[in-house]
Amino acid sequence: MKSKKSYHRKKLRLLITAGPTREYIDPVRFISNDSSGQMGFAIAEAALNFGLEVILIAGPVTLCTPREVKRIDVVSAADMRRIVSKLAPKSDIVIMAAAVADFRPARFFRKKIKREKGDLRSIALAKNPDILKDICRKKTPNQIIVGFALETNDLQKNAIIKLKNKGCDLIIANNASTIGKKYNKATILHKDGRIIKLPKLDKTTLANVILSYVLDSKS
Ligand code: CTP
Repeated sequence: MKSKKSYHRKKLRLLITAGPTREYIDPVRFISNDSSGQMGFAIAEAALNFGLEVILIAGPVTLCTPREVKRIDVVSAADMRRIVSKLAPKSDIVIMAAAVADFRPARFFRKKIKREKGDLRSIALAKNPDILKDICRKKTPNQIIVGFALETNDLQKNAIIKLKNKGCDLIIANNASTIGKKYNKATILHKDGRIIKLPKLDKTTLANVILSYVLDSKS
């Protein structure tokens, strides 16, 4: 693994996503998930020490922006997709740490749905586009694209399937039970078949380890 110092002179651009997305049903109600954004923000902050230029695309979170990181806030998966598609081609490394909502309400009610209407028996959902898969399709030869895999079961098996289906260079697999926690126990899967099981680490330490692996794959 290379030391942080050896990367200082390269000004590679990292595009990183973090946090959940919100998919609004009406002006006050939405579908989302528990992602706190901590992992993505930790990677953004650690990347500065590796001498990277960092653009952070953040879903709705309550975290402070690390100094020198350019942050762009988004709400929905559609917003995130628009920005990521625009910036990914100009980035050397893309890390999709965001917990993008897979579904959005098929219909958005412009006015608040009133309680008096009675039971809402169902909310039809439409599938959101897979941002990671889209950018991997357009990947340039020198680019490194990293995805996350959030699983409740069969972590390694599901992560290997995800790595192949999405077409990314690396997948960081982690268990859904670590959402919102200060620590994480992750497994790094390379497209060349290497699998690195990491111990339980605080998210700042893990962010440094992930970036070392990512930059090693790049050189
Ligand atoms: N992702 C994405 N666009 C989506 C959903 C996920 O870009 N619409 C990205 C995430 O940012 C992550 C990776 O894909 O880097 C895997 O996300 P995950 O939630 O683990 O898996 P899904 O692809 O959503 O599949 P499933 O929910 O069926 O496990």
